[in-house]
Amino acid sequence: MSTLPPFANEPVLELRRAPVRAQLQDALRGLTARLPLRVPVMIGTGERTGTEMPSTDPGAPDHVVAVATRATEADVAAALDEAERGLHTWGATRAEERAAALVRAAAWLRERRLEIAALEVRECAKPWPEADADVCEAIDFLEYYARGAIALDAGPELLQVPGERNEMRYVPRGVAAVISPWNFPLAIPCGMTAGALATGNPVVLKPAEQSPGCALMLVQALRAGGVPASAISLLPGEGDVEAALVAHPRVQTIAFTGSLPVGLEINRAAGTVGPGQHHIKRVVSELGGKNCVIVDSDADLDEAVPGIVSSAFVYAGQKCSAAARVLVHEAIADQLIDRVAGAVQVLVVGQAGELGTDVPPVIEQAAQERVSRYAELARAQGEIVARIEPVPDRGWFCPPTVAAGLPRDSPVLNEEIFGPLLAIDRVSGVEEACDVVDGLPYALTGGLFARDPGVVRYVRERSPVGNLYVNRGITGAMVGRQPFGGNRLSGTGSKAGGPDYLRQFVEPRVVTENTMRHGLEV
Ligand SMILES: NC(=O)c1ccc[n+]([C@@H]2O[C@H](COP(=O)([O-])OP(=O)(O)OC[C@H]3O[C@@H](n4cnc5c(N)ncnc54)[C@H](O)[C@@H]3O)[C@@H](O)[C@H]2O)c1
Repeated sequence: MSTLPPFANEPVLELRRAPVRAQLQDALRGLTARLPLRVPVMIGTGERTGTEMPSTDPGAPDHVVAVATRATEADVAAALDEAERGLHTWGATRAEERAAALVRAAAWLRERRLEIAALEVRECAKPWPEADADVCEAIDFLEYYARGAIALDAGPELLQVPGERNEMRYVPRGVAAVISPWNFPLAIPCGMTAGALATGNPVVLKPAEQSPGCALMLVQALRAGGVPASAISLLPGEGDVEAALVAHPRVQTIAFTGSLPVGLEINRAAGTVGPGQHHIKRVVSELGGKNCVIVDSDADLDEAVPGIVSSAFVYAGQKCSAAARVLVHEAIADQLIDRVAGAVQVLVVGQAGELGTDVPPVIEQAAQERVSRYAELARAQGEIVARIEPVPDRGWFCPPTVAAGLPRDSPVLNEEIFGPLLAIDRVSGVEEACDVVDGLPYALTGGLFARDPGVVRYVRERSPVGNLYVNRGITGAMVGRQPFGGNRLSGTGSKAGGPDYLRQFVEPRVVTENTMRHGLEV
């Protein structure tokens, strides 16, 4: 039985309070003075430096935030040897002790939350509220999975009959490779890593090349909490290292969050059985989206407009859950377009460290170029109904843009753009809106603004998405409250922060014993 208190979400900071804001600015100044961070390859108790890979501030690309060592294929082999040792020790550690280590890691993050949020501001241009929420979510994952793993370890009750004892337990699958994106630079690697560790699996973590500094914080937290070095290795890098990790026969589970093309490539590569491999790799995939918000003719626009605008533009639209397309009933389309355009026009585009900023720069030049290409296409194929220009010159800024009047087959309406570009599309009603949603290959998040309970029921029944939000914004899933993850090509439906997540990292074993003894052995 767990002696931990019931799970509760970590409260976000009250940013309206002047002393809190002052503390954040102090933390940012303190952190900036210590940059760049050095992020070595960390395997067991060893640390190695070598070929350098800088991560830079998206708002000041000439500022280096962290200098990571690029891991090699030889590091992958060494990390997996170490992880094998980790499996024997960490895998044999009692679930309660593993949970205690994760809870201590959460405490380590909590104590340093301002400094870590400041690092997210610098390394990933996360505005303060988003950076703070990301640290809170990381803490939540550690606390939530710690409790979940204790409950899972108890095993389910099976049917028992006289003369027979049946027992089912969940054991660690084995080494987990965790490959993470940059957009939730602490919470996402933390969630996948904590899920694997809580259930007794050693982890080799390959973070996004854009955010190695945040990954270093995670590894330091876990080790400070008591996770043995053999159970958590850090391999910064890109290219060869990922391919070698995914293909390695000793990897049992690959937990991946990122784009669809990369997810598909990983799934393909993981399907090959390597030399000496006696298992089928499990790939936990959490992928991209093209998230639609349906607005019915009776929707409360005072609720819908801010919900849509914040879901589309907060963190420059770089959340997998962000709103990308609005499907609005034609009866109120003009009114909605007008009001969304007005609301977008007053968004504050600025540096992530400035407290009033709504829309920060995007992560890198390639992202800026991608968003610009889609914006140009939107201009050519439809109409730009709002656009904030000019945006600051320094940094990878993209003008927040709203487009309308696009043809149904436009790539702007159908492909993941991952930036501050929202498309508004008119529909004849909720049925047509559901047909459009149903025709998309992605099914991550979705939204509905409507007052009629019958319409809400109808959309609920027809919506294929993993997370549907009704009469509210469509981002900001909370651990334990909104288990999060997509269906269709948006992922394997793994639902991070939910009751089923941990089962992906274990295998069930059943033992049946005949207890009808014929005679006694003495
Ligand atoms: N569904 C979710 O929960 C969720 C959450 C966050 C982000 N995302 C998605 O992630 C994407 C943005 O993140 P990104 O730009 O970091 O994604 P990405 O796919 O480019 O990279 C993700 C990770 O995969 C690694 N990688 C790249 N190529 C690889 C390969 N061939 N083999 C193995 N690993 C490889 C990268 O180095 C990085 O660590 C968006 O598509 C977004 O929707 C999804």
